[in-house]
Amino acid sequence: MVKLSPSILSADFRKLEEQIRRVDKAGAEFIHIDVMDGQFVPNISFGCPILKAVKGVTDKVLDVHLMIEEPDRFIDDFIAAGADLITIHYEADKHIDRTINYIKSNGVKAGIALNPGTPVSVLKNLINIVDMVLIMSVNPGFGGQKFIPYTIDKLSELKEMAEERNKDLLIQVDGGVGIDNAAEIIEAGANVLVAGSAVFKDDKIEENIAAMKGVF
Ligand code: DX5
Ligand code: ZN
Repeated sequence: MVKLSPSILSADFRKLEEQIRRVDKAGAEFIHIDVMDGQFVPNISFGCPILKAVKGVTDKVLDVHLMIEEPDRFIDDFIAAGADLITIHYEADKHIDRTINYIKSNGVKAGIALNPGTPVSVLKNLINIVDMVLIMSVNPGFGGQKFIPYTIDKLSELKEMAEERNKDLLIQVDGGVGIDNAAEIIEAGANVLVAGSAVFKDDKIEENIAAMKGVF
């Protein structure tokens, strides 16, 4: 079954609680929390206080995407704040095996994210120790960017690798996902779709989620 993970980066922060409740009620399975440090990516978003606040209003899977350098420094904090699934970038951690195992040893699910330019082949020895792989389909840092077409090939390649080495793998795609390309993305192998602007646009959260789910 394909899951939807709305990214609150595109939410209206003046009414975050209301927006989370609406996303929850409209049937999103995950809620995607984009953490940016202004170092790994050229933008700063938010951190644990927001995660804690979101945790207070929903029981959905809190899917935390850490776009931060040396994420191992903050794993304990994000676990304490309520993360259910923590994804770190392959490019940001010199000791990715250690960090993944540390996350899992705390009973939290772990994922690895790949920037568009990072090949799927780097996962050869890691795919069977993670719960999820996130294929970035834009260069991380901002919502509302255009989907990069070649990342479709990366999804197919990952799907093939997962069939051999980790059948339960969650294959997440993030960036520029909307109703126009969701079918193609799912066809290529993704089973968790992140969407920011496509979910929150025009404050039509319910309609947008229904339209997206109609494609699944
Ligand atoms: C980009 C973030 C994405 C972003 C997606 O760096 O990781 O999660 O919020 O936004 P859209 O769906 O608008 O591309
Ligand atoms: Zn993200």
